[in-house]
Amino acid sequence: MNASDQRPSARLLDLVNGFKVSQALYVAATLGIADLLKDGPRSSDDLAAVTGTHPPSLYRVLRALASIGVFREDANQRFALTPFGDCLRSDAPEPVGPWAVYIGQPEYWQAWGHLLNSVRTGEHAFRQAHAMNTWEYYARNPDAGAAFDRAMTSRSRRQANAVLKACDFERFACVVDVGGGQGALLAAILAKHQSVRAVLFDQPQVVAGAEQLLRAFGVADRCRIVGGDFFEAVPNGGDAYLLKFILHDWEDEQATTILRACRRGIAPKGKLLVIESEISAPNEGATDKFLDLTMLVHTGGRERTREEWMALFAAGGFRLVSATPTEAQVSIIEGAPA
Ligand SMILES: C[S@@+](CC[C@H](N)C(=O)[O-])C[C@H]1O[C@@H](n2cnc3c(N)ncnc32)[C@H](O)[C@@H]1O
Repeated sequence: MNASDQRPSARLLDLVNGFKVSQALYVAATLGIADLLKDGPRSSDDLAAVTGTHPPSLYRVLRALASIGVFREDANQRFALTPFGDCLRSDAPEPVGPWAVYIGQPEYWQAWGHLLNSVRTGEHAFRQAHAMNTWEYYARNPDAGAAFDRAMTSRSRRQANAVLKACDFERFACVVDVGGGQGALLAAILAKHQSVRAVLFDQPQVVAGAEQLLRAFGVADRCRIVGGDFFEAVPNGGDAYLLKFILHDWEDEQATTILRACRRGIAPKGKLLVIESEISAPNEGATDKFLDLTMLVHTGGRERTREEWMALFAAGGFRLVSATPTEAQVSIIEGAPA
């Protein structure tokens, strides 16, 4: 944060203090500040009045965020959007606001507070913090579940273009998105490829919110929405089974069960498309390695190396055919029925 001080101690301190940035962004995103600045600069007092917040405290948050380039402050305590701040707008093409809201919420950082326990005991931090797993928690706390779903949708919107660029979906007749959340990726695929049909499959309470999004993209008539449990079965008959950020949520045993369900459902010449990270070489890949820690904390799952993906595919009845990197720091790992 202090660009002029490049001493290792100063740079390390910036990393140590990173949670403060997360919380300040959480506040700005929760209050919808970027949307309020969409039409031009506004004073912090004005923003405080509209958001019903304490003016001096809101000002202190906004000026701190301006110091790291999220907003720009003028001499009269007026704030404007910057290219960073723009990404907090709810209508941003690649929105980050829902992610800031999600990771700033107590159930999220409380789980991270148990990372040291996880390292000492190998136990799942989220379960230690909340006495249940992530999915049970979201099912029992619909507001938190909805925030999670919005964060996943925003991530899919940020990644959709890169995925569409790296993979030709035109070759498929029916794409089944297993654990597809509220359908953001499928909506982008269907909007680009008019000949493709799709099935969106996720937990019933998650897909309940999907229709509206699919309608907004004008693709609802080509997408069947199915609620269910991927440990039991997935919709059958697709010639592409998409699993984006699903298998990393689970240890090998459960991930194998999900893959076997896909194997039972997939057409004989169908393709498995796993969209996930691959663990990078030593000293590289902070994104995938911190995502791996996120799995350690939140779901009890893991990111995987290429070799681990090959072994998992084989256990699930697939052979790994190719792995194509995308511009969005995920790979499309393609498999075929073995
Ligand atoms: C990390 S999110 C990924 C969502 C989406 N694929 C994406 O990339 O945005 C994992 C998804 O798995 C779904 N899920 C978890 N357990 C499930 C189950 N037993 N059956 C079906 N879906 C499940 C969750 O509801 C959630 O939408």
